[in-house]
Amino acid sequence: MEDELKNWLQARVSGGRYMHSLGVMEAATELARLHGVEADPLRQAALLHDCAREFSNEDLVATAEVWQLPVREVDRRSPVLLHGKLAVVIGERELGLSEPAVLSAVRWHTAGHPDMTLSDKLFYLADVTEPTRHHAWVAGLRELAREDVDQAVLMAIGINTDHLDRTGRTVDPDTYDLRDLLLGKLRN
Ligand SMILES: [Fe+2]
Ligand SMILES: [Fe+2]
Repeated sequence: MEDELKNWLQARVSGGRYMHSLGVMEAATELARLHGVEADPLRQAALLHDCAREFSNEDLVATAEVWQLPVREVDRRSPVLLHGKLAVVIGERELGLSEPAVLSAVRWHTAGHPDMTLSDKLFYLADVTEPTRHHAWVAGLRELAREDVDQAVLMAIGINTDHLDRTGRTVDPDTYDLRDLLLGKLRN
């Protein structure tokens, strides 16, 4: 299954994106083992999550409409927000994937969501801390992801929203909902 998925992905995305996906696979496997969740679904999710990341803005919106996925105002302003949700449908239709742990990790990997499971959060963190990422903050986040998942997700959200703000892009409201949920949880 894994080799098949690798070949499938390699035929669809750029070399850099493919290497990123393998990096996510590695990072997710490590985090899953550390935190006692099943690694296999996250390994599959890694090979699926960015398969629609190189679609044009027009294709992202048009495909979501054809497949009757909800397209929010924020998705129209920032169509890249749709790439995880499209990847879920591609996984179901083209690859026959149906395992909830695979699909929900893929669905929420872009912006996060308050419904995320521990496994989804680990995947979210693997996406931003995988070995080909070299931003100054990565080492600190990698360390925190090993120790405290919710704190690490909050840190990742902070970095992500700062970056979007600085570059004048829209933050998905789901990201703020997740942040508020985690802050509330930490206060109690
Ligand atoms: Fe992505
Ligand atoms: Fe990614």
